Amino acid sequence: MSKPTAHGSIRRRLLLSLLASAAVLALVVYFVVQSVARQVAQESQDNVLAASALSILDSARFFDGEISVDLPYSALSMLDSISDERVFYAIRLENEFLTGYVELPEANGLSGSVPAFRSAVFLGEEVRVASVRRRVSTDIGQSFLQVSVAQTLSGQKQELASISRRSMAIGAGFFLVSVLLAALIAQSTIRPLDRLTASVSRRGPKDLRPVAAPVPSEMVPLVASLNSFMRRLQLSLMRSEDFIAEAAHRVRTPLAIVRTKAEIVQRNADNPETHAALREMIHAIDDSSRTAGQLLDHAMVTFRLDHLSQDKISLRRLTRDAVDHLHPISELKDIEMEAVGTDDLIIQGDQILMQNALHNLLDNALKYTPSGARIVVTLLRHDDGAEIRITDTGPGFPDGEMDHLTDRFARGANAENVVGSGLGLTIVKEVVEAHGGQMHITNNAGGGACVSLHFPSS
Ligand SMILES: Nc1ncnc2c1ncn2[C@@H]1O[C@H](COP(=O)(O)OP(=O)(O)O)[C@@H](O)[C@H]1O
Ligand SMILES: [Mg+2]
Repeated sequence: MSKPTAHGSIRRRLLLSLLASAAVLALVVYFVVQSVARQVAQESQDNVLAASALSILDSARFFDGEISVDLPYSALSMLDSISDERVFYAIRLENEFLTGYVELPEANGLSGSVPAFRSAVFLGEEVRVASVRRRVSTDIGQSFLQVSVAQTLSGQKQELASISRRSMAIGAGFFLVSVLLAALIAQSTIRPLDRLTASVSRRGPKDLRPVAAPVPSEMVPLVASLNSFMRRLQLSLMRSEDFIAEAAHRVRTPLAIVRTKAEIVQRNADNPETHAALREMIHAIDDSSRTAGQLLDHAMVTFRLDHLSQDKISLRRLTRDAVDHLHPISELKDIEMEAVGTDDLIIQGDQILMQNALHNLLDNALKYTPSGARIVVTLLRHDDGAEIRITDTGPGFPDGEMDHLTDRFARGANAENVVGSGLGLTIVKEVVEAHGGQMHITNNAGGGACVSLHFPSS
């Protein structure tokens, strides 16, 4: 039986797509966590910067048209407490620099009293700047008092790096959990298919019942067509079996009738020529009747070989029944026939086929041995199985032809005047091999044919 070629695997495809989505999700988790962390860190720093800038602004006092600004301790301690960052500030009135670091850049886009922020590079370091302003009255009129506070970012960067490491760990953990889940999902998705396969392959060769166990809806069409296929197969098998039986009946019966009629006519015929002609006719009828019979037997055997029954066969019974069955013919030919070997042996197989094989062998022995001969069917037990050996005291198989006698329609040189079709040994060989056994054809040392059938112990 040819193995179906596999193209891809559902389990692998499922697993790969689940893992790919898990990897994408893990990356997304990583980036989202990181950007949220960065945003939160930035916002909290901005809040502190703005608060300290505002508290400086709040401390501005006007006295005699002069502005005095305290740097409240609280304003800068807020910043210091965060980390070891460096802090800068600058205070300006309109565009006139009052105090602090004159070079400190300011955040643009100030409007009203809402603080503005920017990132910049100051004294070779990255800084975050918050600027606030307030309208004040001076001796020259209304103008803006503006305070900028800046802080370096190195500590925050370190913190962000550690958050980034942690979010990478979270992403990796997420991915690992997804791998496990994906394996479980792939397994459970495939399980109904596995179950169907198991339930179909557990069946015996003759079990063509429809699959009744519930399956997932996606598999219903598959199971439905499997069931319909098996129904058709069963129907056609039944038809073939009926056909073979019917054909055998239709061929054998009319031939038997013609033969009987010919015999009656022959008995009453006075003319020797008519007598001889009728004898030839009867011979021809026998010939075609046998051939038809063997052809049908062969068809039946071929049919049954495809789905062998698994009966428990007692070889002792089988051989004894076969000998009893052909006893009338052996008596008629004055041939002694017996089955020996007391020990019973059991094999598993098709009773009808085994009977057929044995009948063919005994039939041959009866046909090819002369009157007064002896046929013995011996049952033997071996370490590795059982043997049925059929020997006769006839002339034996023709020399040099033994290798071919099991071929279809092959007949030996000694078969010239014997009715037959050359299918007997073919059938025996096929049946024995279908049971895992072997057939050997030899001639006895003292003359006579010997056929042995070996069956392995089951
Ligand atoms: N017991 C036997 N003794 C001698 N020759 C035999 C014996 N059995 C079979 N043969 C030879 O083997 C040939 C093939 O046998 P078989 O396949 O049964 O065909 P058939 O019996 O129809 O001739 C026979 O034609 C015969 O020549
Ligand atoms: Mg034969």
